[in-house]
Amino acid sequence: MERHLHNPLTAGLSDVHRPQPCTLVIFGGGGDLSHRKLLPALYNQALDGELPANYAVLGFALEEMNDEGFRDFAREGIETFSRQKLDPAFWPDFAHKLHFQQGSFTDAEAYDGLKRRLEEIESRFGIPGNRIYYLAIPPSLIEACVQQLKRAGLVMPLDGSGRFSRIIVEKPIGRDLASARQINAVLCKNFNEEQIYRIDHYLGKETVQNILVMRFGNSIFEPLWNSRYIDHVQITVAEEEGVGTRAGYYDQAGALRDMVQNHILQLLTLIAMEPPWTMDANVIRDNRQDVLHCLRSIDRKEIDRSVIRAQYGAGFWRGQEVPGYRREEGVANGSTTESYVALKVFIDNWRWSGVPFYLRTGKRMPKRASEIAIQFKSVPPIFFNADRSHPLEPNVLALNIQPNEGLSMQIATKLPGPKVKIYPVKMDFRYGSTFGEASPEAYERLLVDVMAGDATLFMRRDTVESSWIWIQAILDAWADNRSRWLPEYEAGTWGPVEADRLIETDGRKWRLL
Ligand code: BG6
Repeated sequence: MERHLHNPLTAGLSDVHRPQPCTLVIFGGGGDLSHRKLLPALYNQALDGELPANYAVLGFALEEMNDEGFRDFAREGIETFSRQKLDPAFWPDFAHKLHFQQGSFTDAEAYDGLKRRLEEIESRFGIPGNRIYYLAIPPSLIEACVQQLKRAGLVMPLDGSGRFSRIIVEKPIGRDLASARQINAVLCKNFNEEQIYRIDHYLGKETVQNILVMRFGNSIFEPLWNSRYIDHVQITVAEEEGVGTRAGYYDQAGALRDMVQNHILQLLTLIAMEPPWTMDANVIRDNRQDVLHCLRSIDRKEIDRSVIRAQYGAGFWRGQEVPGYRREEGVANGSTTESYVALKVFIDNWRWSGVPFYLRTGKRMPKRASEIAIQFKSVPPIFFNADRSHPLEPNVLALNIQPNEGLSMQIATKLPGPKVKIYPVKMDFRYGSTFGEASPEAYERLLVDVMAGDATLFMRRDTVESSWIWIQAILDAWADNRSRWLPEYEAGTWGPVEADRLIETDGRKWRLL
């Protein structure tokens, strides 16, 4: 039996987190994700000495390319997107591990060729038949790929031989509950759940991993981490860019499916989960899953009070005039796809009862900023807080996910001088200034985790489906309101006034980021 390893987030466990010799096959190896993220991530981890001694990479795709072409393609991607500069002395060693096999994802013969190529690479590099298949392909091709892999004998059963076949699947896993279930059914028919790694790259971000360390590696937060002391939580994922060249996908998806169903709900589960009794992958994932079970469903009656969707109109971005969403290339005429969504969400369990979680995400906002803010309850309205017209600012713990990764705590302090004047100040920790170098990219961590068999930061089947169940209720309510007018916000602003009202009717405000 393959077993998911203990997670090394806690110190002292890192020796069990050892990547195994393997070949990584990138389906769609000649594509954008491979170019921008996967090949640079592998390069960085190789340079840092984190990859196993024996490994190889095999790009598999339709493009006409040979090994040399793939190496040039990788080099270009690394030179442009890598965290660390390309080191000419190290490059030949890395390049030598890169290979390419041309073929169609639906053609049985291509898989027979892939198998022969894998065996040849494995014998040359002394790799014991361990294979990781990374599906960086459109979801419509997943089924064909998985079935062909199985047919060609490329999926090794969990037979205790110590050799493994693992598969990595990128989002989107479905566009609604039914399609997510269908993709999961195909995956689980051909692979055991323990061989499947569903990526949500937000879970690989350094600051996101730090949520668990912050909560359970310090004694001061957990006693306060509940409805007695916390007034509300805000999660913001703001993006500066518009839909760019991805309208073909995005216009069918929208912000709720693209960002909330996965990334934002995962951030929410890490903030809200109960302490795990061990760092085992499945225990952590069980606890995250419990949060999803407790999310209060937003139905047709609730939708207008709890969810605001909007589209960006024309405006300015970095001083340049930019078109509105509906004018973007590839967006359907009269599209009602939301590029912004804000939600008020409740978690109906003992810890969080009555605490609102305000979530918002959008494209074409004034800046790129992702933050989780925990706002504590105000002090009683006496002493320093007696003046109702100038209430004291409450304590806020802000976790900055990106781009200025760090953590800050807002506290009230006395302004120096003879009078008692109170001023909110920030105790600030920045990764950049404390640790110097740039944090590894999410994909670096996640690829190494798969090589080590650690599934903690991946989505289990039940997680994906539970989040879709919750999202589906909103999609259904929206479907009933199809003809409804969609609010607009000017490109380069913080979203529509309706979203301000969502939070302001509760006597609260969105944070200024
Ligand atoms: C992706 C979404 O999953 O995440 C994109 O499909 C979004 O629309 C991206 O831009 C954001 O990721 P990051 O790491 O840049 O915050």
